[in-house]
Amino acid sequence: MNQYLSIMVVGSGAREHVISKAYERSPQVNRIIVAPGNDFIGYRRQKEVVIDKECSLKDPNSILALAKKYKPNLVDVAQDDALAQGTVDLLEENGFPVFGPRKNAARIEWDKRWSREFMQRHGIPQPEFRYFEEENSAINYAEEIYRKDPSRLTYTKATGLCSGKGALKSTSLEQTLRNIKRMKTFPDRAGDIFLIEEGLVGEEFSYYAISDGKTYYIFKSAQDNKTVLNFDEGDQTGGMGAISPAMITLPFAGQIEQEMILRAIRGMASEGNYYKGILYLGGIIVDGNPMNIEYNARWGDPECQVVLPSVETDYVDIVLACLERRLNKIQVQQDNKTRVCVVGSSRGYPNDYSEVKGKRINGLEEAMETDGVAIFSAGVDVEDGKFYANGGRLFSVVAEGNDILEAKQRAYSAMARISIEGNNLHYRTDIGWRDVERFLKERL
Ligand code: GLY
Repeated sequence: MNQYLSIMVVGSGAREHVISKAYERSPQVNRIIVAPGNDFIGYRRQKEVVIDKECSLKDPNSILALAKKYKPNLVDVAQDDALAQGTVDLLEENGFPVFGPRKNAARIEWDKRWSREFMQRHGIPQPEFRYFEEENSAINYAEEIYRKDPSRLTYTKATGLCSGKGALKSTSLEQTLRNIKRMKTFPDRAGDIFLIEEGLVGEEFSYYAISDGKTYYIFKSAQDNKTVLNFDEGDQTGGMGAISPAMITLPFAGQIEQEMILRAIRGMASEGNYYKGILYLGGIIVDGNPMNIEYNARWGDPECQVVLPSVETDYVDIVLACLERRLNKIQVQQDNKTRVCVVGSSRGYPNDYSEVKGKRINGLEEAMETDGVAIFSAGVDVEDGKFYANGGRLFSVVAEGNDILEAKQRAYSAMARISIEGNNLHYRTDIGWRDVERFLKERL
């Protein structure tokens, strides 16, 4: 490829903001298009960044139309709906080089039943699960398992994509029965199928590998915080904060790689489904054993915000090596910093936050000036240099440090400078607490 590439990133959140920064850092890139993006992604950039909202992530033809308009040298399809809709396949059929798995490979995320059965075929450690096509047999199954163990933890899971909110936790039969009924209300179910899974108890982690179908490279680990409130309480969200690396994973690195990354990539290849792109493993350590909660076919959000900035190697070189199936031929360098991300959301998220739309966000620029801090946006409108809320998760405050204490302190001192008129900013105040405790223990 020539020098001065133009790259199109498909997605609209803080994850796509940080991906666009990774491309911006490459001396080979002079133009980035983010589709549909959000206003703040284009704010105060060093290179030309075009935000084009004339597309829908659920409509691959609308993405193709933008690719034809901008003629990028590379398209990075980063968002789950776009992957599930076959955007990669359509762009490739039209001659564009595309980073991201094709629809059949992205199935590992968008069809939870298929994914569990794939893991079963390849001996990947996972919870017990059953799938159902109608309510009555699910109710009978729930009654049977709670008869044996009334305090059992279960998850009732929609099969399709639900913006990270499709897994409903239950600790009693009554709650499970309510959650079975709620399955009907999920819009993106794949058919009428849903799962009931054994709930695993332990500490969660996220792992990211870039795979060219045969070989792979594993990035630094991370840990997401999925519930809306401190102490892991409240409703599930898309993610309220993250740290990287996640110390819990360190003793298990070899086992996680062998049992859950290698087996998945080889398993996909053995089924003729070469996995090209980012493979995201959501895992949990249960009694000293790493187990799989889920696979996703992309970077996590907010984990991407804490992992990707650590990559020192030109991201374009890594992605091109992936597309050319020579990932094992390049050296990838990552820094030794610790990063903490705290997500700022509209008060009310993940439920009704409609009253916050259009409210003024203050202090974002001051926060960006905090040493070692960057802001990535998911729902920030920019008008006449002022910022306005437009969404549930609005922005990620990401701080780097030499250790978890420094990174956490910087993230929260930046966040303290931000507010939304009417006291409408919500964020968790406990992001990173587990590793703070581990770090302090090690130091004593
Ligand atoms: N961090 C959760 C997700 O990206 O699905």
